Amino acid sequence: MKVRSLTMRHYRNYTDQTVVFDEGVNIFSGENAQGKTNLIEALFFLSRGYSHRAVRKQEIITFDESDMYVSAEVTRGDVRHNIRYKTDQSGKELTLDQKKAKHSQVSRTFPVILFEPDDLHIIKAGPERRRRFIDEELSEAIPAYRKVLKQYRRALKQRNALLKAIRQDATLTVMLDGWDEQLVALGSKLISYRLAYLKRLNTAAKKIHRILSGEREELSLMYQNNVIDRPAYQRDIEKAFAEKIAESRETDLEKGTSVTGPHLDDIVVMIGGREARRFGSQGQQRTAAIALKLSQIDIYEALTGELPIVLLDDILSELDESRQRNILKLIDRNQSVITCTNADFMRRHHPEGIAVFTVHNGVISQGGKGDQTEELPSGTEDEKEDSQDIN
Ligand SMILES: Nc1ncnc2c1ncn2[C@@H]1O[C@H](COP(=O)(O)OP(=O)(O)OP(=O)(O)O)[C@@H](O)[C@H]1O
Ligand SMILES: [Mg+2]
Repeated sequence: MKVRSLTMRHYRNYTDQTVVFDEGVNIFSGENAQGKTNLIEALFFLSRGYSHRAVRKQEIITFDESDMYVSAEVTRGDVRHNIRYKTDQSGKELTLDQKKAKHSQVSRTFPVILFEPDDLHIIKAGPERRRRFIDEELSEAIPAYRKVLKQYRRALKQRNALLKAIRQDATLTVMLDGWDEQLVALGSKLISYRLAYLKRLNTAAKKIHRILSGEREELSLMYQNNVIDRPAYQRDIEKAFAEKIAESRETDLEKGTSVTGPHLDDIVVMIGGREARRFGSQGQQRTAAIALKLSQIDIYEALTGELPIVLLDDILSELDESRQRNILKLIDRNQSVITCTNADFMRRHHPEGIAVFTVHNGVISQGGKGDQTEELPSGTEDEKEDSQDIN
């Protein structure tokens, strides 16, 4: 699918702006604080229904304005769709082809994958950040996952509240069994999804990492989970979970929180057999982060059959030229929207020609197509299935 155009009215620092995109690479260049991230945010927001940086939805409305809308024309094959989100006195409304819609429907019609500088810290960050990475992408690609995740979080909250309440009133302990069952049933489903996802992620990230590191280093991922330590059938996961949760009941009551379950999962990223988070250099951690992030594009396509639009917000300037080139090569089948403060590099190196726009103080104007110069080096085609590290 492709996005043909985007219109923003009273969106952040855009008063009334329409952008018509190229089907391939779209570069938005501009100085700081001109509206590049706001444009990326508008595309992300329209697709996902939340902003990757605003805490409250109100923040995206231009200061001192009360009404706003953002809309996009997208095409899937020969079919055109219109997506529109507006907020005014009568409230908020999202429509897909003029009919009220849910965001889950919209993100299927208009899938995006965002890559921003903060993603480069995914290896260094705490486990919560890596869980968010898995949850966001799995929720986008598999609607059932989103549902189970929500139910699991609700059950976990209830169980934790009950654990605390039992300290005051021991007779409430009888209620714990029911919540244990819920947690086990829902949590086992989550673990099952994550196991399958991590297997794909391991294969995809390994392949991309080889390209990025010039074959010098080997990346592998391990799913770290305190219920089961190897791939298993759903019923075996449930059995193991039920045992573990029974074993940890005393600790849970003592701590007033649940210490067993996928809410504590992590992905351990290894480079050359050593944990990247602890032993990797900054460059190695960044390369591993890029490999994880770019894997999402292939995995999304494998799971849904759709090529998502790739949004790169100011990511290239953070990287050296060979990494920049490799990234562009890896996303060359996708439509992309790329922001930067200087488009010269793209003009020099992109083979297919690119659409260049300038962003200045909330106004976007079209530059020209880039020169067609140098060919990019092609990546390795090593397709070797290599997922035994997931265990
Ligand atoms: N609700 C809003 N209404 C009006 N302007 C806003 C609103 N929210 C943010 N802005 C302004 O939009 C401007 C552009 O922000 P944006 O983050 O898009 O810049 P940028 O081009 O990505 O800059 P950088 O290169 O520094 O990342 C900022 O000056 C900011 O103050
Ligand atoms: Mg920005």
